[in-house]
Amino acid sequence: MTDVLVAGGGPIGLAVAWRCARRGLAVTVVDDGSAGAWQAAAGMLAPVAEAGYGEEPLLRLGLASLRLFPRFVADLRDATGIEVPLRTAGTLQVGFDADDMRALDDLHRFHRELELPAERLTPGQARRREPALTPRLRGALHVPADHSVDARALRAALRTAALDAGVRIETGRVTALAVEGGRAAGLRLSGGTSLRGGTVVLALGAGSGTLPGLPPLPVRPVKGLVLRLRGAADLLGGTVRALVRGNSVYLVPLPGGEIVVGATVEEKGFDPAVAAGAVYQLLRDAIEVVPAVTELELTETVVRFRPGTPDNAPLLGPGHLPGLVLATGHYRNGILLTPVTADAIAALLADGALPAVAAGFGPDRFPAPRPEGTTR
Ligand code: GLY
Repeated sequence: MTDVLVAGGGPIGLAVAWRCARRGLAVTVVDDGSAGAWQAAAGMLAPVAEAGYGEEPLLRLGLASLRLFPRFVADLRDATGIEVPLRTAGTLQVGFDADDMRALDDLHRFHRELELPAERLTPGQARRREPALTPRLRGALHVPADHSVDARALRAALRTAALDAGVRIETGRVTALAVEGGRAAGLRLSGGTSLRGGTVVLALGAGSGTLPGLPPLPVRPVKGLVLRLRGAADLLGGTVRALVRGNSVYLVPLPGGEIVVGATVEEKGFDPAVAAGAVYQLLRDAIEVVPAVTELELTETVVRFRPGTPDNAPLLGPGHLPGLVLATGHYRNGILLTPVTADAIAALLADGALPAVAAGFGPDRFPAPRPEGTTR
């Protein structure tokens, strides 16, 4: 029997597995081979640009994880030889009309209250920083500390690192949590097989909310469509986020001349459809912000499901059953929160205590779930 059985082979599950294996634990990951939310992730590491009123605990967690990122990718390089480049040019937020600028000013005020570095720029200053921007923008906010990373490269490096550290990766679809004597004892997989583990770590992203055997968790799928475009070498130096007369769009440059344009935020359950209108709106707004986008090759339209929670923050730490640990519900911040989640869960499992940085993100901040099979 393995010490730690991780349900989910996305960046969170693999990073938890890697860090646990490095702490001397025997670890098995169950990965269904399909691509989770990470496949759509643009890789923005943007706790400041995405800071929201009332979400200060999430902001602190995001800042802590951002601080861990340079060491985390250096560790990955040392362990695997794979370089996962961090882009450190910062994030530029731009707006087009008076309402957009009011929203940017509100965000900037919030930044100043929290002493977060950010600077208002004129359109000319913004275009000196990113010459591909349209001259039609009204103003901008530069957030120097928000970075980005190639999410697919990160996940590939984590998989290699986990395997090299001795993690066993089992291909299979998790169909239920196995519970014995009121304790999480393992996982049931499609095809009828079961795996046992001393501790089960739930890292199934949007699939975490309704796993048979487990009382429902407050995790729901939030659909996101992103577009990937090719041929943009040197078009942008860093992430550009925009409000285009009230519509949000972001453009994130990746190594190799790709750009990710995102994203829709849709409460439609697990609806995989790529709506023509959603593709149109993203492209229309992206071209408004950076006109040269019109010349790029559209290579992918990707729909995935963010694991949303009622307060937009993750579920970290002991679950509702003994033997169960949660590492899920990362909503829009799965890539950003990978290092802090992995280190916190590894510390919990190896040392017996969740570090202070991750305290307060337990499932007990929400009403207790109803046991399976009961109704109100
Ligand atoms: N973090 C970006 C998104 O969820 O679209």
